[in-house]
Amino acid sequence: MAKRDTKIVHSGSHPEQQLGAVNPPVYHVSTVTYPTMAALRASGGKPFDGLRYGRFGTPTSFALEEAVCALEGGYRSISTASGLAAITGTLDALLKTGDHVLMVDSCYHPTRRYCDEHLRRYGVETTFYDPLVGAGIAALIRPNTRIVFVESPGSLTFEVQDVPAIAQAAHAAGALVAMDATWATPLFFRPFEKGIDVSIQAATKFIVGHSDAMLGVITCASEEIWYKIKSAIALAGVCAGSEEAYLGLRGLRTLGARLKQHQESALTLARWLRAHPKVARVLYPALPEDPGHALWRRDFTGACGLFGFELRPCPAEQVDALLDSLEYFSLGYSWGGFESLIIPTTAGIIRTAAPWRAAGPMLRIHTGLEDPADLIADLDQGLMRVGKSG
Ligand SMILES: Cc1ncc(COP(=O)(O)O)c(C=O)c1O
Repeated sequence: MAKRDTKIVHSGSHPEQQLGAVNPPVYHVSTVTYPTMAALRASGGKPFDGLRYGRFGTPTSFALEEAVCALEGGYRSISTASGLAAITGTLDALLKTGDHVLMVDSCYHPTRRYCDEHLRRYGVETTFYDPLVGAGIAALIRPNTRIVFVESPGSLTFEVQDVPAIAQAAHAAGALVAMDATWATPLFFRPFEKGIDVSIQAATKFIVGHSDAMLGVITCASEEIWYKIKSAIALAGVCAGSEEAYLGLRGLRTLGARLKQHQESALTLARWLRAHPKVARVLYPALPEDPGHALWRRDFTGACGLFGFELRPCPAEQVDALLDSLEYFSLGYSWGGFESLIIPTTAGIIRTAAPWRAAGPMLRIHTGLEDPADLIADLDQGLMRVGKSG
């Protein structure tokens, strides 16, 4: 079996089907025509195999799905219009009125809103749970709990969850486990070896890697789950566009090389910030003193470039001055691209199950591919603007 970096380059690649061209063409297609009634009828038998109608997938999106699935190790993948469409499509496909979902308290905020606003309207109840609950999740599972949703490390706060323990308890009670695995990318976590049934990637982030497309990929453990979710995605019409699928596949080919650099630079920045007198703590599971480090070491094989940190208490205007002064870190909500980003996160940390305590302002950094020495010099001059009296 090929090693991971080899799979990144070769999976889903079929030059022999496209005149020898290395990359698949971008299929611009809505309508597909059939030569005969017999062929038209036959295409209905397996609606999601082969080119049938643009919304059901194109050879470009099939190639991306094949490649991601080979890396994730599941049964089959489904590409979607965005990372959020992958999350909401999974929930829609697997839940119905009267069901209950256990959602991690540190989930991506729109995931929380989807539960609170959309699922609630359709009679699906959500219980948010402490990300550190581990095997204790068993006590929260009800007879109607259909999905336990994990996101590890958590959005903004980076708690690492005990995914195998949670999956074991969920499966014992007949519930499925879905994971937002965007932070780990398909490279640093083996979802199906850890008990995950549905692994979700906001491919917009590291897979696309260049901040120029919206894309999601769902990978499923079994044909049954895949068929349910694929049907829901097709019915909702939130398929990936061919251009976006192409950009995802193109980004994927360099994911291994990029992630090595993102990880190395993020560690350099995190270590530097940890030692800075104006920084109270750094939230990055790859650091040995991080509370999630032991679980991260056990379950992950690497860390991406996204981490958080807390400043020592200081006035809000000083934080603004710090952020406004930065030359190489842009203010932006996304992550996973080649460029460094930073955002304040205090106002975005919404908790209902396990309170989040921070005395000082919280920030999040996406470490890009710039020289880390320049990034550190930039942060250094910025941090001079905080912690002064008055
Ligand atoms: C952890 C996580 N999951 C999912 C998403 C949603 O992805 P998209 O923006 O592609 O909808 C994001 C976006 O920021 C995210 O941070």
